[in-house]
Amino acid sequence: MSAQEERIVSARRRAEDLEIEAGLRPRRLSAYIGQEQVKQNLAIFIEAAKERGEALDHVLLYGPPGLGKTTLAGVIANELGVGFRMTSGPAIERQGDLVAILTNLEPRDVLFIDEIHRLNRTVEEVLYPAMEDFAVDIVIGKGPSARSLRLELPPFTLIGATTRAGMLTSPLRDRFGVLFRLEFYTHAELTAIVQRAADVLGVELLPDGAAEIARRARGTPRIANRLLKRVRDYAQVRADGVITGDVAREALAMLDVDDLGLDRTDRALLLTIIEKFDGGPVGVETLAAATGEEVETIEDVYEPYLMQLGYLERTPRGRRATALAYQHLGRRRASTAQRGLFDEEA
Ligand code: ADE
Repeated sequence: MSAQEERIVSARRRAEDLEIEAGLRPRRLSAYIGQEQVKQNLAIFIEAAKERGEALDHVLLYGPPGLGKTTLAGVIANELGVGFRMTSGPAIERQGDLVAILTNLEPRDVLFIDEIHRLNRTVEEVLYPAMEDFAVDIVIGKGPSARSLRLELPPFTLIGATTRAGMLTSPLRDRFGVLFRLEFYTHAELTAIVQRAADVLGVELLPDGAAEIARRARGTPRIANRLLKRVRDYAQVRADGVITGDVAREALAMLDVDDLGLDRTDRALLLTIIEKFDGGPVGVETLAAATGEEVETIEDVYEPYLMQLGYLERTPRGRRATALAYQHLGRRRASTAQRGLFDEEA
């Protein structure tokens, strides 16, 4: 297991999350907390498609991991009253795998492809006519006698999920009628999500405890639900099973998650920029080498939240730690003159 997978505040999905999330997933748009603008738009598109008896336009959901893309896809299928078929980019190895999935869809079904940016190119090419014309072209036979045969598909809705829309090829991105970016959740929304999860799990969670867990969940429901589970264990063993604010604070301190949800790895990343690279700018490849993390992990998992906090900046010349990061980590920033250089905006 890599360091990334061990982190309790990693937004990446782990095996335990499947079990937690499956039981907690809202089924209706009305039970889905947050992402208000996305929900408002979706409600209209869903109703219109239903009235016309048509498949909903293809939808691309993008944003950092753990914000509920899979959950939302399931909600959409449920609200449409159609079947939900789920797979992922890396799981589809050959064109034939995708053709088999597509030809087995019922009219207006939702096909959800998670990590759609990881589809290989030849598989991706099957999707173009499937999305545009509801058809796939298959080649029968080999050599001079090979023939191409067009198979009609039922109209369906493809919902793709990716951490960054920019990682999709443009022919694929252009075939989505609707693009939604999921945002980090507010503290109030996360508090409500944790409270709802506690109710579903039958955990006694006081408002203070919910607020404390929400505060450290990095705007991410997956992390909130995971922290809730750990705090529940602590409450069971060290307290009387009730999660108060104090119990939550003690449990989270033991997990080394600070009051902003930053753990050792986040702090190490910022400290590397501050101490080894004078606060930056430092290229992401250099940063990856210095911290032993992968570039993709830094970009998709750490940076979005650190940028949201205003602790990290992406500049054309690399990453920079901001004054706020220095403050949070109790470091003093050397003046420009002391560092003997001028920042680009100076
Ligand atoms: N569980 C995970 N994400 C959720 C959301 N947005 N609303 C309600 N429950 C959730």
